[in-house]
Amino acid sequence: MALREILVVPNPVLKQVSTPVETVDDDLRKLMDDMLETMYAAPGIGLAAIQVGVPKQVIVMDLARQDEEPQPRYFVNPEILWASEETAPYEEGCLSIPEIYDEVERPAKVKLRYLDYNGKEVVEEAEGLYAVCIQHEMDHLKGVLFIDYLSRLKRDRAVAKVKKQAKAA
Ligand code: NI
Repeated sequence: MALREILVVPNPVLKQVSTPVETVDDDLRKLMDDMLETMYAAPGIGLAAIQVGVPKQVIVMDLARQDEEPQPRYFVNPEILWASEETAPYEEGCLSIPEIYDEVERPAKVKLRYLDYNGKEVVEEAEGLYAVCIQHEMDHLKGVLFIDYLSRLKRDRAVAKVKKQAKAA
């Protein structure tokens, strides 16, 4: 496994639309292993392949608390089959927009379909933090960031802050 560089705003690659994966093979599993390691090192709870510069529909996630065993999850070609009308707000953050947090309102529950680490199809429902995280990560696959839901002013301010951090580093 190897750590990959996480791209940050305003890198234009983050606006790219990711394409579906044709086969879940060892090369793809290698990418997912690297992504998981990169996410844990950051640390973060979710990461989309485009955040390490790979425009494929791949997401890794781990929502386990610090006192729990790791629970890595892998999503290939995820699709939302259904979303609740009921929405819920959550203060989101993103490894590509370090140190910026703001509230986003999304459907509270979703039903999704995806392929897992072994290429097996899974259909399941998500709610709570899982629902927030999968919708946030799936937005990355469309080139959408959580700051895109904020006002123009807040978005510009967030990008400027990240740019300033990058310069100082
Ligand atoms: Ni993100």
